[in-house]
Formats: sequence, structure tokens, C-alpha cells
Amino acid sequence: MSNEHVTRPHADDAPASFAEVDIRALLESRPSRVPDYESEDRALAALAAELAENPRDMLQKLVEMALTLCQADTAGISLLENHTGVELFRWEALAGVFALARNNTMPREASPCGVCINENATQLMYLADRCFPALRNDPRFVEALLVPFRYRGLPVGTVWVVTHRFDRKFDREDERLIRTLAAFASAGWQSWRAQVELERRVAERTAELSEMNLVLQSEIDRRKRTEEERVRLLRRIALAEEDERRRMAREMHDQLGQQLSALTLKLAALKADCGEQAELRIQIESLQTIAKQLDEDVDFLVWELRPAALDDLGLVAALSQYVRNWSKHFGVSAELHASGIEKDRLTIEMETALYRIAQEALNNVAKHARAQKVDILLECHSGQISLIVEDNGVGFEGERMLGAGDRGMGLIGMRERAALAGGTLVVESNPGSGSTIAVRIPAHNLGSGKTHNA
Ligand SMILES: Nc1ncnc2c1ncn2[C@@H]1O[C@H](COP(=O)(O)OP(=O)(O)OP(=O)(O)O)[C@@H](O)[C@H]1O
Ligand SMILES: [Mg+2]
Repeated sequence: MSNEHVTRPHADDAPASFAEVDIRALLESRPSRVPDYESEDRALAALAAELAENPRDMLQKLVEMALTLCQADTAGISLLENHTGVELFRWEALAGVFALARNNTMPREASPCGVCINENATQLMYLADRCFPALRNDPRFVEALLVPFRYRGLPVGTVWVVTHRFDRKFDREDERLIRTLAAFASAGWQSWRAQVELERRVAERTAELSEMNLVLQSEIDRRKRTEEERVRLLRRIALAEEDERRRMAREMHDQLGQQLSALTLKLAALKADCGEQAELRIQIESLQTIAKQLDEDVDFLVWELRPAALDDLGLVAALSQYVRNWSKHFGVSAELHASGIEKDRLTIEMETALYRIAQEALNNVAKHARAQKVDILLECHSGQISLIVEDNGVGFEGERMLGAGDRGMGLIGMRERAALAGGTLVVESNPGSGSTIAVRIPAHNLGSGKTHNA
């Protein structure tokens, strides 16, 4: 170990062992200068202000203060970092002669900081470059005083001051000063690191969340597009179906109707010509009955396909005609109660949807309900149009049947039609207690599109 002979102006260049550069013991024997508490207080207050205002630069501020308070030539903070498995000290903050070397690195074992961290204790070294050649510089590091810099109680770096002159020697007061500064900085640095870590996590979570949001949004958009596509397709199918029904109804009416009229005329002429031939007359009369029945059947089919009243007179007229015929045909009492429906406010598409829903609901009553009475309510009130078909028949497991879809397509088709019109369809029924089919459509969906008067 060296002793006070360090006062000599020219140092030895020869390599030396650590024991030869280690002059820690001199801290005990050297006279210590008188503490300057006033300067120290000012320095700590400035450091506290820096921590509050600009925590990122606090370590730099700290080394500048260490430089001044210890009257050193260079002061620095070295932090231990792991660079892909290699441990290095990085000069995190530097002030004084070597200030420009900030961020330079040195392998752990090649640096006096390694000893300071290993021993977790103050070090004082004389011409340390004799033992740590990587330190060799101009001017040389004559005396170096290092204290551990701790993070969460563990040494993660060092705070150090260096003289490049042979006449400046560090004492216990210098050690006390940089220890105080290091302890102060370590506390501030910990809270700053915690804040940085928190910010990093928040940023990470925010990025994750916004990425999830994007994925979710694109999935929502995709489903929306698919749903819109499905609705467009259903609407086209419904329109095409009605067109086809209209075309078939016209063809039947024109072709079959005309031929039946011709047949009726010919049968009447034949009957007039048959004179006293009673047997022939009976046969002609029975053919006339069949032709009449055929005519009625064709009329019924034409009407079933697309009642002219729906296009010409509107929903209420067409539906009341349908309900009357239905009741007569099936021998079940049925009544339509209509109110508040203005024909020219509904689109043809909307009227067709409501008509077909009522038709299918009545079909179901005829097929399944064994009811004595059906009430059909059609009204527009308080911004909403309602169609309710209520029977007093045997009932069924309403909504469950709708979900199943394995019995038939009637209920599902009704719900689809209601949805296409922007409304909802609800089935209320329980075995033994009749059934109610209720369609509700908001009035703002009623006014658009082609109306009867358009
Ligand atoms: N008013 C009703 N009263 C009693 N049961 C009904 C009534 N309406 C529907 N159901 C029951 O719900 C089932 C499903 O009706 P849906 O109209 O969907 O099919 P479907 O009438 O059987 O066949 P499709 O209508 O396809 O010809 C029916 O099979 C019947 O059991
Ligand atoms: Mg059905």
C-alpha cells in the first residue's frame, strides 16, 4: 500500500497490484478539513429542487456538486449494466476535466468501480491506472475516491471524485460529502426510476389496449359488413319473391282466367244448342259447375299469390279482405282491429312485410292452434306501428320454437321480415294458453321508400 509519499510530483508508471494502489487507510490518518455545512445545505437544496423539477438530470447535477464540494477535477457516476451477458460500467453522469466522456463504458473487472461494488464500501486509490490499465489517460487519475451508489439497498454503481493533481488529497470530509450526496441521489433516483417504470408500464398497457381495440373494432366492422350484406340479400330476395308472385298472379289471371271464360261461354252455347237432349244437358250443367269452381279456385290462387287490394287499396283493405276470407274458409271467428294506419305513410315493402307476417301467423293458427277465435290488431300509435295476432288455441313453447327452427321456417321467416323492416317480433305463448305474435316497428322506419301514392 502507498503512504504519504504520494506528494511526489512524478508517479511511477510501472504496473502495480491492487494492494499497491489501495490507499484507503490514509482516510483514517490524514487530517480532515472542517465541514462547510452552509455550502452543503445549499447544494442539497439545489439537488432537491432539481429532483422535483427535472428528475432526469438529477444525477448530472449531483456530480457537478460533488466536483465543487470536494474540490475535485473530475466527478462521475458509473452505473453497472448488462449488455447481452457482459457487465459494463457506463458513465451515466460526468463533470469536470473528462465531462465529454459521458456514456463511455468500461468492463466491470477492468474498472475500480468493480472493487467498490464487490466490497460495497468506500475506496481510495492512488494512480489506479497502474492496476486498471483501461483508466490510463492524460491527465492521469492521481487520487480516486469512490462510494457505492445503491438502488433498493443494493450497490448498482458508484459515485466518484478524482484529482489529476498531486497536491490535492481527499480526506474523511470528502468521503462524508459524497456519501451524503450518493444517499440523497439514490433515494431520488429510486423514486424517479419507479416513476419511469410506471410510465413505461402504462404506455405498454395503453399500446396493448389500443391494439386490442383495433382488432376488436375491425372484427365489429367485419361483422357489421357481413350483417349488412345479409340484410341486403334478404331484402332483394323478399322483393324478388313479391315480383315473382305478382307476375304469376297476372299470368294465371290473364291466361287461365281468359280460357275459363271462353270455356264457360262455350258451355253456355252448347247448353243452348242441346235442345231436348236431357242427358247431355245434365252433363253440360255438371261441367259448368266444375268450370265455376275452377274459376273460383283460380281467383283464390291469384289472390293468395298477390292480392290486388294490397297494391291498389293498401294494407288495411287487403288484410281485412284476407281475414274475412280466412275466417270463412276455416270456420274460425277472426276480426281485424285497425287504427291510426295511414296508407300513404307506409312503403309497399313495409305493407308487404306486415301482410305476409299476418298471413303466416294466420296460417299457423289454422294449422296448429285449434282456436275458436283470432284477433288481429294493426295500429300506429306513439311513434310505433304494431301488428298483433292473438289466438285462444292450444299454445306452444313460443320463443324456444323460434330458436329451434327444426319444425318449420314460418316463425323464423316472420322474424326476418320484421327485422328487415327495422322492427322486432316477439312470440308469447305457453302450452294450453293461446298464442300471441307481436311485431313492433318504430315509426321512423315507415316513411322512406316507395309509397302507394308515389
Ligand atoms: N298459433 C300457434 N298455435 C300453436 N302452435 C303454434 C302456433 N304457431 C306456431 N306453432 C308451433 O310452432 C311451430 C313452428 O311454427 P313455424 O311456422 O315456424 O313452422 P310450421 O308451421 O310447422 O312449418 P312452416 O311454417 O315452415 O310450414 C309449429 O310447428 C307449431 O308447433
Ligand atoms: Mg308455419
